[in-house]
Amino acid sequence: MRNPLSDLIVQIPPSGIRKFFDIVSEMEGAISLGVGEPDFDTPWHIRDEGIHSLKKGRTFYTSNAGLKELKIEICRYLERRFHVNYDYTDEVMVTVGGSEAIDIALRAMLNPGDEVLIPQPSYVSYVPCTVLAGGVPVEVQLEEKDRFRLTKDKLLEKITPKTKILILPFPNNPTGSIMEEEDLREIAKIVEEKDLFVISDEIYCELTYKGKHNTIAALPGMKERTVLINGFSKSYAMTGWRLGYACAPAVILKQMLKIHQYAIMCAPTTSQYAAIEALRNGDEDVERMRGAYDERRRFLVKALRDMGFDCYEPQGAFYVFPSIKRFGMSSDAFALKLLEEEKVAVVPGTAFGDCGEGYLRISYAYSLKDLKRALERIERFLKKLDAKE
Ligand SMILES: Cc1ncc(COP(=O)(O)O)c(C=O)c1O
Repeated sequence: MRNPLSDLIVQIPPSGIRKFFDIVSEMEGAISLGVGEPDFDTPWHIRDEGIHSLKKGRTFYTSNAGLKELKIEICRYLERRFHVNYDYTDEVMVTVGGSEAIDIALRAMLNPGDEVLIPQPSYVSYVPCTVLAGGVPVEVQLEEKDRFRLTKDKLLEKITPKTKILILPFPNNPTGSIMEEEDLREIAKIVEEKDLFVISDEIYCELTYKGKHNTIAALPGMKERTVLINGFSKSYAMTGWRLGYACAPAVILKQMLKIHQYAIMCAPTTSQYAAIEALRNGDEDVERMRGAYDERRRFLVKALRDMGFDCYEPQGAFYVFPSIKRFGMSSDAFALKLLEEEKVAVVPGTAFGDCGEGYLRISYAYSLKDLKRALERIERFLKKLDAKE
């Protein structure tokens, strides 16, 4: 029998995050601080709208781009929160999570050999989706000394005549870094000069703890060069509803919609009705959850620093990214030893790109009680390490 598989997919490694969680799920008494998923339930008024839509028999496909009412609410939300205006008729589509939007944006825009600049450490899907779309991923290393922001110099260093797209992954998973308006202005200037496009993954936009989130799409000249990606998973604790969206210039969106039409048809109907409610009446929930994450963020950073970790203070998302360089172990070895000896699961920084070596990602989408229990174990682990030195 000949090889049934595509060479392209075979060479793509599975996500480094999952490896640990397969071990954790089998380990009794383990505490996981690994998963990037809110620990809150979806607020009841949002769930009720989903249930209500089912009771009403709204169990059919919607139009490919999504319900009109939802697209209108998305536009209202983006205008009201981030001062960027989109036309719901041809610049907005509803997707199966931000995940689908990332994939189809790359597929709609890349020709074979086009280069995609991917700031790293960052979310695990950008590189494989670029490769699957025929593009060439080019890493742009984010560094702690720059507060893990993308700087002008770092960007200019990696631009070649083949560069087509810059991915902007802020607020960032795993570092928790954000880009302020001045940072974005510098990047926007280069994007325009070098005639690039931006895929801006703003899935953590509501989880910004100092100041407010800024989108590059709101800067002059940028809307026509940007695919803005967002979703409901993180802001409204709706990961399982699988709902996101993309906003883009009509010429790009039209092609993205074709891929979506043939591969997906439409995003889940029940989830779309629930999402309308989230956007109309969910601000207080977002604020409440943000407040809880912020409390945990401050608690965790302080506790880790008190224990002796060098720990950058994250400004967004729900992760901290402490350095473990002083312990003389690789991220993988440290995370595995911590899991084996103290049954605490965290993610090695290398799961988010090679430049994550020397760091761990710890999620604080867990209750303070769980965080405290895990920290006691981490402290014991460090004491054992120090005693061995
Ligand atoms: C930075 C980032 N983008 C996109 C996603 C995808 O989220 P979803 O497909 O649930 O919207 C995630 C999920 O963890 C993420 O961390």
